[in-house]
Amino acid sequence: MSIDGFIAGPEGDLGFLSQVEVAGEDYGYSEFVKTIDAVIIGRKTIEKVESMGYEYPLQDREVYVISRNLRQDKGSMHYYQGNPADLARELKGKPGKNIYCDGGSEIVNQLFKAGEVDDLILSIIPVILGDGIPLFRSGNVLQTMHLISCKSYPSGLVQMHYSVPGKSLSISE
Ligand SMILES: NC(=O)c1ccc[n+]([C@@H]2O[C@H](COP(=O)([O-])OP(=O)(O)OC[C@H]3O[C@@H](n4cnc5c(N)ncnc54)[C@H](OP(=O)(O)O)[C@@H]3O)[C@@H](O)[C@H]2O)c1
Repeated sequence: MSIDGFIAGPEGDLGFLSQVEVAGEDYGYSEFVKTIDAVIIGRKTIEKVESMGYEYPLQDREVYVISRNLRQDKGSMHYYQGNPADLARELKGKPGKNIYCDGGSEIVNQLFKAGEVDDLILSIIPVILGDGIPLFRSGNVLQTMHLISCKSYPSGLVQMHYSVPGKSLSISE
């Protein structure tokens, strides 16, 4: 997100992400995704990825796209018509690795409000956007977080790993 807390600019613009694109630097992404086997993602986020001409990169995992509308599953990408918190509880009840919520903020905020977020990895990009789609929306409950690590990179990106006390996952640092 930007310094002022936006995950996308106005109209969903993601141009600010290119500011920290550095050859050979993935900010821990490839190591992190080894710890997960399921993804929860909002319909608007997946459509944004597709509209940019990319294939969603984690299609070798079970991907649950949250939408209120019934849509055709595509390979391992399943459309889930219900509440993302119910899905998170269902997946946590099954054996497996970590579950990754890849956004957007509508989904993240519902998971927070339902107490279903265990860890938060926040990457701050050194830019102030002024407007756009905020990561955190109003109505969240008070939640104290525990800082596990904080790492800064030459590009200016700062990455914090927070956990909810008593709920942290197996993500190595
Ligand atoms: N900077 C980053 O790292 C980052 C990460 C992720 C996303 N983004 C950006 O964030 C933007 C999208 O975020 P967003 O918050 O606007 O949307 P989103 O969370 O990606 O998707 C919202 C959609 O999810 C579905 N939904 C939400 N709650 C639901 C519920 N309780 N039951 C069933 N379906 C539900 C609805 O789909 P239907 O309308 O189909 O019913 C809703 O329109 C995009 O621009 C994306 O590129 C940025």
